[in-house]
Amino acid sequence: MCTQESRCREFLLSRRSIRRFREDPVPDELIEKALDIARFAPSAHNNQPWVFVVVKDKEKLRKLAEIHRWSKPILGSQVAIIVFSDSKISPRSHLVDGSIVATYLWLALHCVGLSTVWIYTLEQAEQIRNIVNAPEHLMPVAIFPVGFPAESPPPRPRKQLSEIVKIDSF
Ligand SMILES: Cc1cc2nc3c(=O)[nH]c(=O)nc-3n(C[C@H](O)[C@H](O)[C@H](O)COP(=O)(O)O)c2cc1C
Repeated sequence: MCTQESRCREFLLSRRSIRRFREDPVPDELIEKALDIARFAPSAHNNQPWVFVVVKDKEKLRKLAEIHRWSKPILGSQVAIIVFSDSKISPRSHLVDGSIVATYLWLALHCVGLSTVWIYTLEQAEQIRNIVNAPEHLMPVAIFPVGFPAESPPPRPRKQLSEIVKIDSF
């Protein structure tokens, strides 16, 4: 039986990190649809302290692909979305809120049929801000290179519930 639970489970468990993309153009409408879903992420006080920068410029993509050794997937993408979180709007919770909206965006891209991988940003914040002229109070939480998948990796292993769930105390 195809229940809502089984559909949600299938949706969540079928997401993969995709690091190689086909050369097909990525329709703007799909990017917009995904962003329009992601903006419904929850945030402390409903402050929504985030800004998304959609990068298509080849030179900027090349620079972003060089921020560290695991950022190479950006080079093969035609569009990347940088999720920034605003420390002026939410000084105490911008990193948590930013991480939530980034996760929503990752799932929203999956929802509209696009693939991506979360690229780490926290130690390269200044470099990333410089590439897109972002002000200092914006913290890049994630970069998502976006495209149609040119690979279909198997699921990566996960810890067993028994390893990670404790009842009442350690
Ligand atoms: C906070 C965070 C940072 C990550 N940084 C990178 C990265 O810089 N480069 C990369 O290729 N993958 C990165 N990943 C992807 C993880 O390696 C991937 O999610 C994990 O191996 C599980 O695989 P899956 O996403 O296919 O389930 C990151 C994921 C998260 C959540």
